[in-house]
Amino acid sequence: MERTLVLLKPDAVRRGLVGEVLRRVEAKGYRIVALSMREADAETLGAHYAEHAEKPFFAGVVAYMSSGPLVALVLEGQRVVEGFRSLAGATDPTVAAPGTIRGDLARDWGTPEIQNLVHGSDSPESAAREIAIWFPSF
Ligand code: RTP
Ligand code: MG
Repeated sequence: MERTLVLLKPDAVRRGLVGEVLRRVEAKGYRIVALSMREADAETLGAHYAEHAEKPFFAGVVAYMSSGPLVALVLEGQRVVEGFRSLAGATDPTVAAPGTIRGDLARDWGTPEIQNLVHGSDSPESAAREIAIWFPSF
């Protein structure tokens, strides 16, 4: 059974959208098999966003992701990696399609990094790598 790593980013927690996002995930039919609220440390974020370490927005993303508690989840289901990315919508919330989490619930706040409520692994290989970072005993 396929799994994916999802993060409800600090803006989702701050804005009281944890329940709304989990509702969408469960209504779609995916199973939540791990869930944990925590404050992410620099080491975890550095590993998670290793592919973006050289990007101009990296420091902003780390500050954003450290700005408060987040919720980490593992979801399970056939084609869940692709399915959650589809539920989440495009990275940029201004153009994310209505009906998606980012399209319905996120917007541009004028910050240098894009604040977009959720993260979802972009491939089964990324999911395995990211689940090992956030849930090492899983
Ligand atoms: P995610 O990894 O969070 O699921 O999002 P994604 O695949 O749609 O986007 P990705 O390219 O992996 O970027 C990771 C996160 O970094 C922030 N970002 N800011 N200012 C910018 O141009 C920019 N680009 C990316 C976003 O929070 C994005 O989700
Ligand atoms: Mg990504």
